[in-house]
Amino acid sequence: MTPALASAALTPDQVPGPEASSPAVLAFALTIDGYAEADGDALARLAHRWDRGDPLSLHELRLALFFKQRAHHDTGGTWGPTDPLMDAMVALVAEIRQRLARGETAAGLEVWRGDLTTLTVDAVVNAANERMLGGGGVDGAVHRAAGPDLLAACRAVPEVRPGVRCPTGEARVTPGFRLPARLVVHTVGPVWQGGAAGEDAALTAAYRAALAAADAAGAATVAFPAISTGVYGFPADRAARIAVETIRQWQAAHARPAGVVLVAFDRAAEQTLRAALRP
Ligand code: APR
Repeated sequence: MTPALASAALTPDQVPGPEASSPAVLAFALTIDGYAEADGDALARLAHRWDRGDPLSLHELRLALFFKQRAHHDTGGTWGPTDPLMDAMVALVAEIRQRLARGETAAGLEVWRGDLTTLTVDAVVNAANERMLGGGGVDGAVHRAAGPDLLAACRAVPEVRPGVRCPTGEARVTPGFRLPARLVVHTVGPVWQGGAAGEDAALTAAYRAALAAADAAGAATVAFPAISTGVYGFPADRAARIAVETIRQWQAAHARPAGVVLVAFDRAAEQTLRAALRP
């Protein structure tokens, strides 16, 4: 079970400033609620990734802060002259403040650069193909990280017609198995054919189907790859605009997923996604 903390929108004025006192930092850490359903082991792994310098998404930074706050509470909350847990919380708050200053979490939607399979969210979205039996790109990475049980679960998904388990623009859900994410939402984006074959509508449908499947499965946090922009050749900037617009429309009308991460696999993709996020 991964932390089910909803990454609700966070605005810069909610975050303590650089000179904030320890009590102010602790009070901010305590505002991140939802711990009850979260999985302590998953949070501990996250906090360990922060300690060793791994890049964390904004949602994960908030989870790690939450964990440090609980660990601080469990040690009796002593604020001696050297308090490594308090120092870690101050550093986490500073990083969160920086991310917000860069314009992240516009209504629980953020961009993060890295490998989607490492994210501790309730559901990762897989850019699959209609056969749903694995492939290259993010599909290959998801299957490698999830382990062989994922392929078995995909095989168990009924074919809607010979060789097709998930038609383009639809979504299917399986467990995440060895992934940090509890679920995998498999969706199939369109192959780019020049833009006049209904590709925009099909990509919109894939994002919407994935959001609806995540919502129905109770996922509060979801991470998307840039669907169709790899092997399927969809122009990255056009796909990014469709992704941001479709997710924002969904979040305006639905409580879940409250936190969505758009994952960029390289710097160019990150710049494209950040440009699409700017109002
Ligand atoms: N984490 C995040 N993003 C990734 C990762 C990863 N580990 N690996 C690749 N990506 C990015 C790519 O850089 C690209 O921007 O995911 C985006 C989607 O690329 P593809 O994985 O090629 O997916 P897509 O273009 O939708 O093509 C789907 O490719 O892998 C096959 O089986 C898959 O047939 C299907 C087709």
